[in-house]
Amino acid sequence: MSFSKDGAPADPGAAASRMAWAKVNLTLHCTGQRADGYHLLDSLVVRAGVGDRLDVAAADDLTLTVSGPRAEGVPTDARNLVLRAAEVLDAGAGRGAALHLEKHLPAAAGIGGGSADAAAALDLLAAHWGVPLPTETAQFGADVPVCLTRGPQRMQGVGEILTPLSALPPCHMVLVNPGVDVPTPAVFSALSDKNQPPMPEVIPSFAGFSELIDFLSAQRNDLAAPAIARGPVIGGCLEALSDAALARMSGSGATCFGLYATVAQAEAAAHRIASAAPRWWVAAAPILAA
Ligand code: C5P
Repeated sequence: MSFSKDGAPADPGAAASRMAWAKVNLTLHCTGQRADGYHLLDSLVVRAGVGDRLDVAAADDLTLTVSGPRAEGVPTDARNLVLRAAEVLDAGAGRGAALHLEKHLPAAAGIGGGSADAAAALDLLAAHWGVPLPTETAQFGADVPVCLTRGPQRMQGVGEILTPLSALPPCHMVLVNPGVDVPTPAVFSALSDKNQPPMPEVIPSFAGFSELIDFLSAQRNDLAAPAIARGPVIGGCLEALSDAALARMSGSGATCFGLYATVAQAEAAAHRIASAAPRWWVAAAPILAA
């Protein structure tokens, strides 16, 4: 990209980028099931400061290229949610864009990799093409609406009801994915009790790290048991995070997270886990405030 003297792009709209941050479900309660089979959720969702990066440059045709440490196996055709989102946004007008995705997050891992990428594509291309965002973004995946927001959110319904929460106290996270495939539909359908209690009606604001941990410790991820039954190594990830103030699985797995009060503790834990299990994906990152 070339820049003018004041630092603005010389050719506005020619190139820009968005981060697709990892989505982490600090809690995930399954409170019911709709007639169409989708599950009703009550979840506290945050973003961790590790993610994919999506770049766009002006072009006549719509194309997608992928690079980065987790690029292997990521499709570059219409199966990729980035291109599906772009095509719906374009609505047949034939606009072009050269998209490049730098993939750092593991796919189908419970941290919204595909949904975060789709949300980044919608946000980036709406600005690039000067078109409005679609009103119905859950069509791209239940996690896309929350991935279009920033800061902590309470996510309800099947993912489309979002309530912004007060900023959380500073908190550091270690994410651990053991590389086991636990398909989301299979984990949901193996959940024996689909009518479990929601979170408290009012989610308080937290004075500090220990108040946040106390609150979260009393909540759950209802999908952890069926996911661990399918991929017992997920239990191994939780054990590896046993020095965290709280360790839990995110989404339908297999990624687990540990929460730590300081960056030094999180980095030490990440280093220890990555050394002991070199084939696992391990990342230390702060919870993003906004
Ligand atoms: O919408 P998304 O592609 O993320 O969902 C993948 C699958 O997970 C759905 O096809 C459905 O089987 C299951 N799911 C569900 N209830 C939700 C979200 C997802 O049953 N709230």
